[in-house]
Amino acid sequence: MTKQITKQNINEAGHLEIGGCDAIDLANQFGTPLVVYDNGKIRSQFRKFKAVFEQSNTDYAVCYASKAFANTAMYQLVNQEQGHIDVVSGGELATALHAGFPASRISFHGNNKSKDELRMALENHVGVIMLDNFHEINLLNQLLTDINTNCDVMLRITPGISAHTHEFIQTGQTDSKFGFDLESGEAKKAFEIVHANKSMHLLGIHAHIGSQVFELKGFEMAASKLVDLAAEWKQEYGYEAQVINVGGGFGIQYTDADDPLKPEAFVQKIVETVKDRTKAEGLKMPAIWIEPGRSIVGNAGYNLYRIGSRKDVPGIKSYVSVDGGMGDNIRPMLYDAKYEAVMADHPLRSAIENVHLVGKYCESGDVLIKDQPLPSTKPGDVIVMLDTGAYGYSMASNYNLNPKPAIVFVENGKAQLVTRRQNYTDLYALDNQLK
Ligand code: LLP
Repeated sequence: MTKQITKQNINEAGHLEIGGCDAIDLANQFGTPLVVYDNGKIRSQFRKFKAVFEQSNTDYAVCYASKAFANTAMYQLVNQEQGHIDVVSGGELATALHAGFPASRISFHGNNKSKDELRMALENHVGVIMLDNFHEINLLNQLLTDINTNCDVMLRITPGISAHTHEFIQTGQTDSKFGFDLESGEAKKAFEIVHANKSMHLLGIHAHIGSQVFELKGFEMAASKLVDLAAEWKQEYGYEAQVINVGGGFGIQYTDADDPLKPEAFVQKIVETVKDRTKAEGLKMPAIWIEPGRSIVGNAGYNLYRIGSRKDVPGIKSYVSVDGGMGDNIRPMLYDAKYEAVMADHPLRSAIENVHLVGKYCESGDVLIKDQPLPSTKPGDVIVMLDTGAYGYSMASNYNLNPKPAIVFVENGKAQLVTRRQNYTDLYALDNQLK
């Protein structure tokens, strides 16, 4: 049995139930491959984060890092939960605005925001621009002068902390491409420029140490370094940071091998650290902002596939193919990420074999799960990959010109199509005929 499928997730027909909907019915109604989100789980994680702050009487913002998964309905759901969002591109910003998401609750991140993207942010009165480098400070300054306006900014600092995670998703170490380096004094230089700029209001300081981080220590160190910095700038320049933003990165469980703390435990530690350290430094308690992505949507997402062909290599291994793969979830290939899967029509049935669950893409590496234990299967069966909600669809591609799947939100037994499946016409809609 897999980690989180219990009898409560199984309906009278013996089928897997997601948000009160039968997984087989979802596959029949909307087709496969299908991405399904259980909205109840998303809302519940938001509320757990908020409760930590509210119980400790701390000003806060839970800024959902929308790179983990973004579409119009998701931005609307975050808005219903009164969350903030972080966007990292003009595309995410445009979609959030299209969704009616209030600009004042948007933070705009990125290490190479273009002039057009910055202009778009200013024209739409985005809440805060997260300054990442000197080039960007110059660009923003020019724009603020041209448009004759001002804006809130935060400085993204590279705190010199290596979080224990896959090397591609570490960001807080000194040689990262993001942010102003603390140790070499770049952060201080950036502070002096921004502090002296009349059109930029420096709301606070930001650091993000990495993603899928399991240890408290990194967050504690980052929070503490940010407060040290605030204390230094208070003493030297009389500047008072209103916000300490510790980023996201709280690790979640994908398989039995993962044993993370609950995401809210990380936040608890961050709040305690900032409280203790600001008190010790005699600073006013700032607001604490967090930017969780994966921990909001990861465990709420399910990828539904239908089984097709099978290849048995006698004495070696068996491959069971599904109708999706690396195009809708690149994480196993890119990060060697591990997932678990269950059969939708009998999720708890005992396994009789271990197989490689593979996709339909023309690459040998298109393996979704290695050595997946399965009961007997046949073509047409629906198999559900669990915990695919973060960085699955958001990193989807049209490789081999396969259309991207549809996305369905489920809640209280009701299912809603929130992004339609791409069709073949979509695949060549941007093309011109050769002249
Ligand atoms: N804030 C900043 C500034 C970030 O760069 C990120 C993630 C987050 C927040 C959210 O981190 P989360 O809570 O989701 O861990 N594609 C990779 C993950 C890349 C994360 C990039 N930055 C993956 O599939 O694992």
